[in-house]
Amino acid sequence: MMPSLKIAPSILAADFGRLADEVAAVEAGGADWIHIDVMDGHFVPNITVGPPIVEAIRRSTKLPLDVHLMVTNPDDYLGAFRDAGADILTVHCETCPHLHLTVQAIKDLGAKAGVSLNPETAIESLKEILADLDLLLIMSVNPGFGGQSFIPSVMSKIRKAKDLIDANALQIELEVDGGISSDNAADVVQAGATILVAGSAIFKTPPYDMVIRQMRRAGIGAMPVETQRA
Ligand code: DX5
Ligand code: ZN
Repeated sequence: MMPSLKIAPSILAADFGRLADEVAAVEAGGADWIHIDVMDGHFVPNITVGPPIVEAIRRSTKLPLDVHLMVTNPDDYLGAFRDAGADILTVHCETCPHLHLTVQAIKDLGAKAGVSLNPETAIESLKEILADLDLLLIMSVNPGFGGQSFIPSVMSKIRKAKDLIDANALQIELEVDGGISSDNAADVVQAGATILVAGSAIFKTPPYDMVIRQMRRAGIGAMPVETQRA
């Protein structure tokens, strides 16, 4: 059975001065996961949060914490983020010369292992490691900032990823991140996404419960009938 649709609000667009309340509000509004964007100013041209903020969010919610590591040398920080409460640790394949080892290190920590690709990175480069992953994260914007527009050419990569997952009968979550809203949720889910990350579309257009419900309804309507579970 394929996974059901998950909505993962990205706290990058939240009010950081009221972070605990913001996280509680999206949880109450129906979010499935909390997506946390970690940026180091090296791999991407922006700096965001580290393990202390993940630890603070851990205390604010029971939802799984989906930590997206946009950092060089992610191996150096996996333990710290896991200790802080990360449930899913996603690294960028562009930052990992020994991706298989990194994925094993994440699993050894007891977390779910995700790998992310920049918009220009071909899905074929992950063919050999796909079976080892819990999650594949396809970036639909260039990582670094919230509020960017969805890059349309990424849609065919989502389809290719879904075909690869299906062809090998794998149970991998297919997460798409960047420029997602209720307007394009159906197309992205139809292409194969099982997790929608959304920052601006949720936190900049309250009420959160309404936008999460709209996004879920649009996405579920585009799923294959046998997987249409909320
Ligand atoms: C971008 C981040 C995204 C971002 C999404 O580098 O990985 O998670 O916060 O924000 P929106 O939904 O505003 O594009
Ligand atoms: Zn992200």
